[in-house]
Amino acid sequence: MTDLTDSATRAVGTSTVRVEGREKVTGAARYAADVPFEGLAHGWLVLATVARGRVSSIGVDPVLAMPGVIGVIHHGNAPRLNPKAGMFGIPDGTLQLLQDDRVPHFGRPVALVVAETLEQARAGADALVVTYEEEPHDTAFSADHPGAYTPVSAPVSAKGDVDAEIAASPVVVDQRYSTPEEHHGSMEPHASMARWENGRLEVVDSNQGSFMVSTILSALFHLDEGVVRVRAEHVGGGFGSKGVGAQLILAVMAATTFDRPVRVTLTRHQVFTVTGMRPATRQRIRLGADSTGRLRAIDHESVNQTSTIYEYVERNGEVTHALYAADAIRISTSVVPVDLPTPTWMRAPGCAPGSFAVESAMDELAEATGIDPVELRLRNEPQVGPLSGLPFSSRNLVGCLQEGARRFGWADRDPRPGVRRDGRWLVGTGMAAGIYGAGSVPSTAAVTAEADGGYTVAIGAADIGTGARTALTLVAAEALNVPPSAVRMKIADSDLGSAWFAGGSRGTSSWSWAVTAAAEDLRDKLVGIDRIPPEGITGRGDTAAQIAALAQQERHAHGAQFAEVAVDPLTGEVRVRRMLGIFAAGRIVNPLTTRSQLVGGMVMGLSMALHEEGLRDAAFGGQVNGDFAGYHVAAHADVPDIEADWVDDYDPSHPSGIKGVGEVAIVGTAAAVANAVWHATGVRHRTLPISLSRVL
Ligand code: MOS
Repeated sequence: MTDLTDSATRAVGTSTVRVEGREKVTGAARYAADVPFEGLAHGWLVLATVARGRVSSIGVDPVLAMPGVIGVIHHGNAPRLNPKAGMFGIPDGTLQLLQDDRVPHFGRPVALVVAETLEQARAGADALVVTYEEEPHDTAFSADHPGAYTPVSAPVSAKGDVDAEIAASPVVVDQRYSTPEEHHGSMEPHASMARWENGRLEVVDSNQGSFMVSTILSALFHLDEGVVRVRAEHVGGGFGSKGVGAQLILAVMAATTFDRPVRVTLTRHQVFTVTGMRPATRQRIRLGADSTGRLRAIDHESVNQTSTIYEYVERNGEVTHALYAADAIRISTSVVPVDLPTPTWMRAPGCAPGSFAVESAMDELAEATGIDPVELRLRNEPQVGPLSGLPFSSRNLVGCLQEGARRFGWADRDPRPGVRRDGRWLVGTGMAAGIYGAGSVPSTAAVTAEADGGYTVAIGAADIGTGARTALTLVAAEALNVPPSAVRMKIADSDLGSAWFAGGSRGTSSWSWAVTAAAEDLRDKLVGIDRIPPEGITGRGDTAAQIAALAQQERHAHGAQFAEVAVDPLTGEVRVRRMLGIFAAGRIVNPLTTRSQLVGGMVMGLSMALHEEGLRDAAFGGQVNGDFAGYHVAAHADVPDIEADWVDDYDPSHPSGIKGVGEVAIVGTAAAVANAVWHATGVRHRTLPISLSRVL
């Protein structure tokens, strides 16, 4: 076996290509819809075509007579689900598919046609006649909607007297900001296969956490947890949209009803329709400052759309609660239920739209006080959590701001807007800060020393394209003090035990802790052993107790982003010319994939700033641009050189100093671009995206 006393290993911090990279680029990697199963049947979704009402009839018989059709599942015959099931034990009506005749929104699944081939299922779904009893609907979300209310789950948080501080402030910014529905656009469409095999429900899925999915699925179908096994070996992106999908629930219903393996895949349009989206938000920011730019008050009011079947809260105030010091802070969040699909988490939920508002307002405050935007932020750097009073586990936003300003060449900036021309283009620069929560969630892992000298790491982690499999290989190699090539990873299988999912930028920090704990346990077990038996020796890690014992602290990743844009005043076109992001996001495990995550987040933020907007028709609430032709996601031609780098930020509250990088990189990006557009043109854009028609 590999010599554990060899201390030459420095795996963490070494740029390493993805361990499954060759499989992926050669097409050998199988995604959920690629895995073959004997006797596989196919399901095709039928979606509601009215905005609100009841299903009055479903013309099943003619479809049953069509070639290859096995059956049609609908509210009249679907298995009964547990209405209490949902993430974190919170009942989620979005999961309650085909349980009654109610249609809560356009695009709600009302039936699944199951057939021998995909084409036969699609033909059957196309031919299925569903009639509805329509009811008046309301799909018009607005800030002053009479249905707005403050959810119990999002109480107002405040310190000090915001109104009094604002009244006493010599400089006040009071503005409203608007962000649209945005869609995840994962490259791999959602897909699930379910079958019953030897008394177990076996699922091959595209998700962000197989253990989480198996737990919710068990509850939903009244099954014991050990009965369900969920796997998601390779996943082509999630961005928050891949939890327990409609296609999975319906595949399980079909597999149960027809006792066949059934796969349900979504078309791109169905992905836009049934997998959730970032909700539209309306925000009001009030900042009160003294003439030196010191904040006396921050008031962040936010409202977002949700559906009538689940109360989804977009926590825009997350960004405000720990970004700047102020004498008084108030964060209030409300929701408006409308007859539209349920929104869900999308990359940096809350912080992405929240930072557009707050960081635009900070730029307006810089303008009003005549203080440089970087300097303004440095002057409001908090020493402890501004609302909580708790210490930061580590915080290096100052380093991000200073290093970013230095590398971007910010010092020479002329603050006057609308005065730089390059041919027909108006040119400007802008910046913004960002913050996103960090921390670890209890997880379990096992590490086995094999008789052949290698090590097998088993953890229910998910690699949704982030490079998690590779990061954990490096973490395990370092913990075992062996070369990364000696480590084999087993992930994305609910049978591997309880583990956090790829969410909240807490994957790598949570899983690496568990892997390290298991490696330590293994090293203890190997003391005095000179021969590994054929079945190997396994060490186990469970971080629940250690994480529960952590001191209360503010844990966040931070970043500062800088953008240069050119605006064509004739066409309204905005071109981003260059962007720089400097981050403080804990110890960096794999610089190669970290840079990829950071650049990816910045591209998504650029796209949010300039392009992305889900549009709905007023008659039905259907999405009129539910495809990549109508919903533009930044393409290569939209993206200039983007540079992402980091400053030191070892987090002492994590055994390996790790935070997380998946989401912080989209926080502040849209504001940096919008602030640069103001600097170029002298016009503030408080509504995203900054599309051609808005610029003109
Ligand atoms: Mo992330 S939006 O928490 O998957």
